[in-house]
This record gives sequence, C-alpha cells and structure tokens, in this order.
Amino acid sequence: MQDLQQKIAAYEAEINAFQPTNAAELEAFRIQFLGTKGIVKEIFGEMKNVAGPQKKEAGLLLNAFKIAAESKYEAFVHLQGNSQNKEAKIDLTLPGTSIPLGTRHPLKMVENKMVSIFEKLGFSVATGPEVEDDWHNFTSLNMPENHTARDMQDTFYVASNPDWVLRTHTSSVQARMLEKGELPLRVICPGRVYRNETISARAHCFFHQCEGLYIDKGVSFADLKQTLYHFVTEMFGADTKVRFRPSYFPFTEPSAEMDISCTVCGGSGCNLCKHTGWVEILGCGMVHPNMLRNFGIDPEVYSGFAFGMGVERITQIKYQVNDLRLYSQNDLRFLRQFQSIE
Ligand code: PHE
Repeated sequence: MQDLQQKIAAYEAEINAFQPTNAAELEAFRIQFLGTKGIVKEIFGEMKNVAGPQKKEAGLLLNAFKIAAESKYEAFVHLQGNSQNKEAKIDLTLPGTSIPLGTRHPLKMVENKMVSIFEKLGFSVATGPEVEDDWHNFTSLNMPENHTARDMQDTFYVASNPDWVLRTHTSSVQARMLEKGELPLRVICPGRVYRNETISARAHCFFHQCEGLYIDKGVSFADLKQTLYHFVTEMFGADTKVRFRPSYFPFTEPSAEMDISCTVCGGSGCNLCKHTGWVEILGCGMVHPNMLRNFGIDPEVYSGFAFGMGVERITQIKYQVNDLRLYSQNDLRFLRQFQSIE
C-alpha cells in the first residue's frame, strides 16, 4: 500500500506539472497515462498486490488518480478544440467580403424626388388602377366618344370588355380624385401608363407619368407657372430657365407645354436639345370648365391647374439616358451606374 501511495504521489506531481504546448505533446500524455498500456492501467493492475483490508482505501486512491489524469487531458483537449474552432471560423485579419446591395431604379429615384418636391408644396399622393374604364380615362376628361383627341394616344383596349383600357395617362387618377368631391384638392398622381407604340429608343408601350392637380377658389395661371418653375429649379438647379408654349389638351384651357433650358449644353446647342437650347418636359393648363362640370364643380366658383410629365423624360434629361429601352431591360451594367446617387 505504501509503495502504491508513493508511486501515485510521484505521478500526480508529474500530471500537475504537465503543460503541453502543442497537440503532439498532449497526445503523448494521453498515451503515457490513459493509453491501453498506460500508467493508469498499470497502477490499477497493482490492486491485486494490496492486502484485503486495504483494498477499499487503495480503490479510492486509484480512482482519484485516474480522474486527475483524465481531467488534465480533457482540460487541454477542450482548450485546443476552442482555439481550433476560432481559427476555422473567424480570422479577424482577413478583409471582409462585401454583401452585394441592390439599388433603387433610376425611374423610382426620380419619381421619389418629384413627389418630395410637390409634397413640400402641400400636394398629397394619389394612385389609381392601371386597368381603367372609358369614363375616367377619356370621357370625363372632356374627351367624349369619337373625340379626335383620343387619337393623340394609341390605346390598348381590354379584349373582353371594350369599356376597359390600359390607362393612357394618369389623368384618370385626377378624375377619380375629383369624383370624391373633396375641395380644395391638391394631388400628384405618379404611376405607370400604357400606349400602343412600337418599342424603340424613343418610344415604349409602357412608361411612367407624374401628373398634378390643384383646384381651389381663385387659382390662376400665375400659380401654375410659379409652381412648375419651383419644381424645375428644385429638380434641375436654380439656374434653369423655363418657357411656356401654347398647346392643346382637351381637359385644359388654356393649355401649354413647358420647356426648360437645356441642362447639358446650358442653351448653346447639343444633341439633347436638338440644337435649340430648350427641351420640352411637360404639358399643363387650367382645368377645362367642362371637366369641372363633369364632376359637379361650379367653374364660376372654383378653378385649378393640371400638369403631366413623363418620369422617363425627366430621368433622361437629368442623367442623359438616350435609350428608353434601358429602363426595362434590367441590365445591371446600366442599373449599377445609379448606385451612388441616392
Ligand atoms: N395627360 C397629358 C398627357 O398624358 C398630360 C397633361 C396632364 C397635360 C395635365 C395637361 C394637363 O399627355
């Protein structure tokens, strides 16, 4: 028994002092103490030499020794495992991998900008259906059946119901807002519209508009001009000049088209302005009395202005995009160019 106690004490001192610096040393320790021919096995084998009455005491001693050897080994296996895991999962010295981020579509960026400019002037946003009935798209806007102005817009009709069209402009939303009968009214209507055009660099069968409508007592053409002038300076910069040319729309009288000084050449002449120094950006006018009457509004009491512009057109001028088809081709080489803008 004494022999055994001495041996174990010596081994325990060795175990306590053991401090492996690498995996090989730890493995050597395991083989030395816990292996099939290891020290623990060997010492257990000496039980048979212990006298009967001392067997219990010897058993406790041997078990404590075995546990000491095992826990030393496990403590280091555990530590080593942790450090191996850490190395496998994160190396803080590596440069990070960036996650590819999407970007807003240029048309949406421009539409958002338009909306925010008009919202600051007190306009609220209204939307409506893209499949529209004849009344909201044409008739109520002072374009009764057989009105020649219907030819200005090549319309897609819904085959199953000739009363339905894919809306040709967002003026249909203005009609829906007037129908509600809440005055005064100050709304902008952004949205997608459809026309039966052959797709080319300069025309598409669907595009986007943003139209505005302001109805109140005493609204004048001066309000129209000032509102649109403000829009232009916010969108294209304070130096931008505007001019109005007389035009025709069935739902406005008088009607005008508005041009801005060319943002590319500043007026000296380039391809964008076709060497005129001016680019057309929108149609506008004072809401036609017939249209007000269609919605039960007395044109002697209320007046208002309306305007409509193409989002593609504004985007084309702002970012010099020369082919309308680019907007719907989902070509990342095109879309990524807008990544840093907003
Ligand atoms: N609805 C017209 C178009 O699509 C634009 C417009 C709107 C013109 C409002 C005048 C007033 O061309």
